[in-house]
Amino acid sequence: MSSFQSTKRVIDAALEIPIVPGWTNLGYRIRRNLWAWGDPASGSMSGSWALVTGGTSGIGRAGAEGLARAGAGVVITGRDPERAQAVAGEIARATGSEVIGLGADLSHLDQAAGLAKEFMGRLDHVDVVVHNAGAMFAGYEEHDGIERTQVLHVLSPFLLTRRLSPLIPNSTRSRVVFMSSGGMYSHGLDVAKLQAGPAGYRGATAYSRAKRAQVALAHRFAERLPGRAVHAMHPGWVDTPALHESLPRFEKTLRPLLRRPEEGADTLIWLATAAAAGTTSGLFWLDRRPRREAMVIGAGSRAEEEALWDWCERITSAY
Ligand SMILES: NC(=O)c1ccc[n+]([C@@H]2O[C@H](COP(=O)([O-])OP(=O)(O)OC[C@H]3O[C@@H](n4cnc5c(N)ncnc54)[C@H](OP(=O)(O)O)[C@@H]3O)[C@@H](O)[C@H]2O)c1
Repeated sequence: MSSFQSTKRVIDAALEIPIVPGWTNLGYRIRRNLWAWGDPASGSMSGSWALVTGGTSGIGRAGAEGLARAGAGVVITGRDPERAQAVAGEIARATGSEVIGLGADLSHLDQAAGLAKEFMGRLDHVDVVVHNAGAMFAGYEEHDGIERTQVLHVLSPFLLTRRLSPLIPNSTRSRVVFMSSGGMYSHGLDVAKLQAGPAGYRGATAYSRAKRAQVALAHRFAERLPGRAVHAMHPGWVDTPALHESLPRFEKTLRPLLRRPEEGADTLIWLATAAAAGTTSGLFWLDRRPRREAMVIGAGSRAEEEALWDWCERITSAY
């Protein structure tokens, strides 16, 4: 490696140490210039199909647009089918690609199973699956006997990946991406706590635990889907409706430094399209580079990850 390349690596890594600059738009813009990032060539994804859950808004919408611009056909999902179809039409008109909008509330497992069925009824392959739908819930609510944050971020993505996996070609061009969060650094994987009841519920804690579980699922699927690339990532801090609603004070304080949705979606698009992102699997990414998975708190053991897999399998097999 040249000393110039080494210097760039040092600058990139240094942005992660105090967290704040690296996760803001400053981190993104410095890295984009530092590494002279380009976007996927128009038409480079022609013939591919991508599923982007939560593609009606924010990061997911920007990611869906980026994939459609690269020539992929894209299926986006949101809770309201009419809204999803309307947004799909807007993306199709802006990009010239085929875009389908489907409705499913992924905090309910029967709807996740219904989405998988509907997808398989329409398409015979899917090259890119992006588990992006997400939300932080202020109040405790159980769906299917499980707290809904875990259904939305953990159980539904597990079910969708399992059901759609026969449609994902055994090719390094095939990608599965979990949109996790830097919030996962605050909790290690603990499957018992994913099943915690209402006592002491905090939305931010449930969200962080779910986002940690997504990283663990990326590890497990990387082993169980050989030949295909499975990634987890975090987008940095991004100016989206979810951030306004769930963390209004944080959003107000940091507003000038928040990334635009296109900036938050950059790594999603890169992980889904770049040849280099097909050569590794099971890592955690920010700004087109693998990042450490634990800071002060440990990530969780392999045995705990296997327990997560068994839990997901047991719960979702009923749908
Ligand atoms: N913004 C950030 O700073 C940040 C940081 C780290 C991670 N993330 C993650 O990035 C992902 C996208 O979030 P965003 O910030 O872009 O928020 P957003 O603009 O509010 O988008 C959230 C998307 O998820 C969908 N969604 C929400 N609840 C759903 C449900 N129950 N079932 C199905 N779809 C649902 C929404 O669709 P409908 O409203 O049409 O149903 C929407 O398309 C989330 O997983 C979030 O945790 C965001």
